[in-house]
Parts: sequence; structure tokens; C-alpha cells
Amino acid sequence: MSNKSLLSLLETPEKQEYGHNPTAKRETNHYQAEYVRQFVERWDELIDWRARAESEGNFFAEQLRQHEKYKVLDVATGTGFHSVQLLKAGFNVTSADGNAQMLVKAFENAKKHGHIMQSVHADWRWLNKDVDGKYDAVICLGNSFTHLFKEADRRRALAEFYSVLEHDGILIIDQRNYDCILDNGFASKHKYYYCGEKVSAEPVHVDDGLARFEYAFPDGTKQYLNMFPLRKDYMRRLIRETGFQSVKTYGDFKEAFHEEEPDFLVHVAHKAYRDE
Ligand SMILES: C[S@@+](CC[C@H](N)C(=O)[O-])C[C@H]1O[C@@H](n2cnc3c(N)ncnc32)[C@H](O)[C@@H]1O
Repeated sequence: MSNKSLLSLLETPEKQEYGHNPTAKRETNHYQAEYVRQFVERWDELIDWRARAESEGNFFAEQLRQHEKYKVLDVATGTGFHSVQLLKAGFNVTSADGNAQMLVKAFENAKKHGHIMQSVHADWRWLNKDVDGKYDAVICLGNSFTHLFKEADRRRALAEFYSVLEHDGILIIDQRNYDCILDNGFASKHKYYYCGEKVSAEPVHVDDGLARFEYAFPDGTKQYLNMFPLRKDYMRRLIRETGFQSVKTYGDFKEAFHEEEPDFLVHVAHKAYRDE
């Protein structure tokens, strides 16, 4: 682990801290103070690896194989769920995250599954400063991109993802179906992503600039995440404006869906120029 990562581990606060007005915290950098050790340690209770693997099936591995992309950069590694699934499936994976606590946990998890994770401590906004080489695919999963609060940060991060890709690389990036939450209120099937049976993940505040989610554990502990509610068409437009030539969006892993149905959306964007 580099000195920078060690320092960042030491600097992470013990407890989440939102100040006297939690809904006023709308800052990109705040993800570092949200993923504190006690939340990171319990993240896997929330997502439940076995249930999540069942609900997602081979969607991501199939997408990558179908497009013949084998060298993958997971930019939102978290505790390592997708990196480990892809390592097990034989992909060449590098695992990046801006939060050092997450990377430590991911490394431990990979080891338990018999893999030595190649990890890089990197913030998306200056990803290419820390990540070497080019990749066939970048994955940014688990509703992670929602942590960016400024449009300039979103554009910058997408430009960094674009730049680390080979000339015909693909980006797979997902998000909650925020349109539905903003327009119709929250009603999750809890079938995907946050699959832990004894935990709940529900918004406690939603407006055009903030979705504040509460994650409640069986022992009464509660943790929070403040996120930016990305609308689907806005996200697709940002991806295209970065230079990606096409974007295909799936709803809960299905090609055909009604706008209000899915909990999660997955965008698959292609860098390759298509003269159609
Ligand atoms: C919601 S977690 C998802 C983790 C994992 N992909 C999953 O599905 O379980 C979001 C992850 O994105 C990382 N993250 C958020 N903002 C970031 C940034 N600006 N640069 C790098 N990583 C960031 C966080 O540290 C965290 O590990």
C-alpha cells in the first residue's frame, strides 16, 4: 500500500459526520467521509454476495465476452464484488477505488476467494494519474457514479474513463432509476444490488439535487449516503457528449422495459466509431 493510501486510511473519520443539516451535504469529496470503516465492514451484509450473484446472473461477464473485452478496469471496486466475480470468470481485472478502506476490504475478500487483487487507489477525477495502461472495458457499478455532485466532476470522470479505454473500448456504468424515485416516489423490489435480507435501504430525503438514503441494520445501526439523483436521459447525454459513439440502456438487466419498472439501469457505451 502506498504512503498516500496509508495516509488516507488514517485520515478517514471513525464515524459518519453530516453536521447539523445532513441534507445540505452535497459534495463530491464527501464519499470519503461516508465510507467509514464501520460502514465498509458491514457493506457486504447490505449487498449479500450470494443473493446478488444469483440476481445478476452472468449479465456483466456476458456483456464483456459478447464484446470480446477481457482486460477490465473496475473503477468502483467497493468491497470487490464485481472484481471477484470477473476474476473467477477468468477476466484480467484491475480494481480501483478512491476509498482506501474499501480497497483493503476488497483485497481481503478477493483473498478469501483465492485471488490476489491488483488494486489501485485512484479518484475518478484524476484516474489516469494513478492507473497505467489501457483497458478493453471500464466498469463503474453499484450505483457509484451518483456520488459526483458537480456536473464538472461527472464530465471530468467520464473523460478519464474514456481516456483509459482502448480505441474500441466499452464503458459499463449503472445507476438507480432515479427518474422513478423523483417522479413517483420510492418503491423498490429489493431484488438487485442491496440483496441482504435483514437490512433496509430507503431514501429519507429526495429533491432534484439530493437523494439521501438510510441503510438500517438488524442491530439498529444506521448509516447514510448522500447521492445525486441522476436522471436517465441526462446520464445518457453526458456519456455521449464525452465522445462515446453509442449508449444502450438496460432496465434491471433486461433490454426491453417500461420506464417506471426497473430499480436499476445499466448503460453500455461504445467508444468505437460506427459509420452507420
Ligand atoms: C456504492 S459503492 C459501490 C461499490 C461496489 N461497486 C458495489 O457494487 O458494491 C461506491 C464506491 O464508489 C467509490 N467512489 C465514490 N466516488 C468516487 C470517486 N470520486 N473516485 C473513486 N471512487 C469513488 C466509493 O469509494 C465506493 O467504494
